[in-house]
Amino acid sequence: MRVLVIGSGAREHALLLALRNDPKVDHVVIAPGNAGTAAVAEQRDIDITSAPAVTALARDVEADLVVIGPEVPLVLGVADAVRAAGIACFGPSQDAARIEGSKAFAKDVMAAAGVRTARSEIVDSPADLDAALTRFGPDAGEAAWVVKDDGLAAGKGVVVTADRAAARAHAAGLLDSGHPVLLESFLDGPELSLFCIVDGATVVPLLPAQDFKRVGDGDSGPNTGGMGAYAPLPWLSREAAAGIVTDVVEPVAAELLRRGSRFTGLLYAGLAMTSTGPAVVEFNCRFGDPETQAVLALLESPLGQLLHAAATGGLSEFGALRWRDAAAVTVVLAAENYPGRPRVGDVIVGAEADGVLHAGTARRDDGAVVSAGGRVLSVVGVGDDLNAARADAYRILDSIRLPGSHFRSDIGAAAAEGKIQI
Ligand code: GLY
Repeated sequence: MRVLVIGSGAREHALLLALRNDPKVDHVVIAPGNAGTAAVAEQRDIDITSAPAVTALARDVEADLVVIGPEVPLVLGVADAVRAAGIACFGPSQDAARIEGSKAFAKDVMAAAGVRTARSEIVDSPADLDAALTRFGPDAGEAAWVVKDDGLAAGKGVVVTADRAAARAHAAGLLDSGHPVLLESFLDGPELSLFCIVDGATVVPLLPAQDFKRVGDGDSGPNTGGMGAYAPLPWLSREAAAGIVTDVVEPVAAELLRRGSRFTGLLYAGLAMTSTGPAVVEFNCRFGDPETQAVLALLESPLGQLLHAAATGGLSEFGALRWRDAAAVTVVLAAENYPGRPRVGDVIVGAEADGVLHAGTARRDDGAVVSAGGRVLSVVGVGDDLNAARADAYRILDSIRLPGSHFRSDIGAAAAEGKIQI
């Protein structure tokens, strides 16, 4: 099988490594990729938001399967074009990708499917902002205001704060730059990400994971695209995970099918385990980053065959997935000043080590690997348990040098110490 992967992050690097482990995959191509993915796949540079460009590349490389990593091409309908060209594609249609691309659509689907989610309001005029803020956060008896960019913002458009002035300033800034604002009620309880391979009504869950969105230790500082993750979750029972599949993901997949928006791809449920049960924070229409790096490190089933089965209507016959009886931790190494405007162009030492996945990297003409984005590398550690996986990840990180870089030192720590309880 020949597989074309679309994207350029550590998530795509992880997908490539897992695909290469599948004995039925004999060639992998990535577009546009980065300095790390170039070492493990044929690399092509195209505009991945262009449906004709992706389709032409898929034909050119004779792909049997196209796997689309990021949400932007999916929301723009690139998967539809690939399928229309007669090539199997793992990724939802433009219509189904609205589960991530349109908050209003997602809320409507969840309401129809009877799935619990945060109460929300969209504010699109500064004149309505103050009154709307009083209906949320501490003004409404909740712990904090949750202020989001009502569009694709890669996690960085979110502010969660108990300070009304800070909530107002973020919302006003978004409105000033022409972005509608989503206010949501605050969901208490630990958050988790459950990724499910979906085709129509068939839902195959991967291991549950947890990511870390704030930039600093102890969940301090601003939100980012994700600073680390671990899987599986020692604090979530198998029964609780199975309950999320039956009570949340399957009803949403069925509702999408009922509306004629069949979902084929990765349906990502972001949830909070509140004191009154699981509630959805958001759905995404693609693999999450950095959880994917931890989850795929534990997958033993052949990923290429799994994604191909989903893309071609064979998912219900695929059978149960096999997993390593182990834990995985991924820690993101970020460039100086990230999540603000990152410093780029610095030489990275140690980026080729085992367990190092590349995100914002490029290769200079002289052969050096340099930083080229905010999140630069993802380091993945694996061990018999979470403590061992943490030790492995931080050992690898210790061998890497990037001037001004930073990372969180507490990824998976609370769970390893048994401090997370539902
Ligand atoms: N883990 C956050 C995201 O992928 O959106």
